[in-house]
Amino acid sequence: MTRARYDDVGTGSAVALLHGYPFDHAMWSEQIDFLSAHGYRVIAPDLPGFGENTKTADRRITSMADMARDVAALMDQLSIVDATICGLSMGGYVAFEFVHLFPGRARGLVLADTRAPADNEQEKQARAQQAEQMLARGMGEVADATLRKLLAPRTLAEKPAVTARVRDMILRADPKGAAAAQRGMAARRDYSEDLPGIRVPVLIIVGRQDPIRPVADAEFMHRGLSNSSLVIIEEAAHMTNMEQPETFNRTLLAFMETLDNSAGVSSFALT
Ligand code: MLT
Repeated sequence: MTRARYDDVGTGSAVALLHGYPFDHAMWSEQIDFLSAHGYRVIAPDLPGFGENTKTADRRITSMADMARDVAALMDQLSIVDATICGLSMGGYVAFEFVHLFPGRARGLVLADTRAPADNEQEKQARAQQAEQMLARGMGEVADATLRKLLAPRTLAEKPAVTARVRDMILRADPKGAAAAQRGMAARRDYSEDLPGIRVPVLIIVGRQDPIRPVADAEFMHRGLSNSSLVIIEEAAHMTNMEQPETFNRTLLAFMETLDNSAGVSSFALT
């Protein structure tokens, strides 16, 4: 079966779902179904170097800004003027770049399991090493090394289908695209400096047990933003949207509804 480079489902105000590393747009299938059934137009692209998005296949490095420009170009192609931009982890870095480059095109931001600060030297080195490892030996070792950090113990024990989906997504990633994204993440800006200037409402979501981008990272963003709310999802680690889709969906929908009512995030509450 041929997979498309993006999903574009439903009608209504738009939301763009930006996947994490090293995944593709299939990680959002529950959100695509749910939000499109609730009156929203959902676009979920494969970011450059992932899934079927092979436009940058020869690049050594794909910056987070390159990815944000690719999202804006897809919105142009689909005649979408503005959207709520929802990114998980690497998708969150892309969301930061998107609102910086195209401030008038983001109606609101959802930052899930991500963080604002740039990498330190040790983290940059680890990314360089992982990039070389993937290029030399493929994605298998990354899948083995990261599953236990991506998913909470309860997910691993009780949701084998979710575990299998996450593993399969990692294994089908193109090592070249993933390596280019690793280098792009290592080179990313410090988005902490952007926080005070972000004027659109922001929803921050984090898994209580996320060891990769823990609750403290979410609290840091919450403190720096002027118009944000923070939701911590129990029994989830890094892949909150796949581990606890009902809670994630309900939270996202409530936020989208406040944006539609133009009431802003101050009246946002998880019902
Ligand atoms: C992700 O899930 O996108 C990655 O953990 C992001 C990162 O490596 O910083």
